[in-house]
Amino acid sequence: MKALIIGGTSGLGRALAAEFLAAGWETSVTGVRDAALKDFSAAFPAARVSKLDLSAPGARAAVEALLAGPGRTDAVAVCAGLYIDNPDNDWAAEEKVIALNAAGCAAALNAAYLYFKKQGGGRLACLSSIGGIRGNARCPAYNATKAFLFNYLEGLRQNAALAGADISVTNIIPAYIGDGGGKKMFAAIMKKRRSVYIPGYWRLLAAAYRNLPDLLHEKMAAWHYVLLKPFMRKAPRWKDQIK
Ligand SMILES: NC(=O)c1ccc[n+]([C@@H]2O[C@H](COP(=O)([O-])OP(=O)(O)OC[C@H]3O[C@@H](n4cnc5c(N)ncnc54)[C@H](OP(=O)(O)O)[C@@H]3O)[C@@H](O)[C@H]2O)c1
Repeated sequence: MKALIIGGTSGLGRALAAEFLAAGWETSVTGVRDAALKDFSAAFPAARVSKLDLSAPGARAAVEALLAGPGRTDAVAVCAGLYIDNPDNDWAAEEKVIALNAAGCAAALNAAYLYFKKQGGGRLACLSSIGGIRGNARCPAYNATKAFLFNYLEGLRQNAALAGADISVTNIIPAYIGDGGGKKMFAAIMKKRRSVYIPGYWRLLAAAYRNLPDLLHEKMAAWHYVLLKPFMRKAPRWKDQIK
């Protein structure tokens, strides 16, 4: 069995790639930074590693080329993503986030989905974020791109159902988990789950947050990160955002 993990050289993608490799899958992984590519190759010599910038022109064709290699690819996970803390809504930062998290990820998902449709099946997964549930003052583009992914994945899933295609589309929704969650992500893809919140209790918190009246949502901007402190503290990469 073959898997392709896009954005698999660091963080959550790397944790997921490690699970595919441990389960004996022939695994290809992409990243952007040379140091990360080198580090991944040294840690996982069995993996095939290549450079792919999803926000660069021609990225979709590069994904197609990776899938066109010999043998059948059975699973594709799009794990690339970019968070920029942007309380002043600087456009250059917003544009960068939109280019990768929305346009780049959609291009990769589209290429993989059509590949699976042609071959008659496959497992498609993407890392969105709990941020996709509502807008956020400090990172409007980030949360908006994650909401876009929720919707885009739902569209692909409905398209597969309509076509009677055996393609699972799994929306992985992490909430401040740092670099962990590999086993849960892998299990969700293997079980062909439609969505998985990590940790799981965020499904309930998300339902409540989604239904919070708009006025309360606007008012809570001031104490949003105070409420999230206990969760962010558990994820090392978010610690520097705790004031
Ligand atoms: N970690 C969390 O707690 C958390 C919470 C919610 C949502 N998420 C989402 O989960 C995903 C992964 O997050 P992470 O924390 O694991 O991030 P990360 O550690 O920064 O890893 C991101 C991965 O994407 C690759 N990448 C970066 N820019 C890229 C580009 N332009 N084109 C293609 N690949 C690119 C990186 O390559 P290099 O290795 O070369 O840098 C790396 O492999 C993101 O979509 C993020 O929004 C994470």
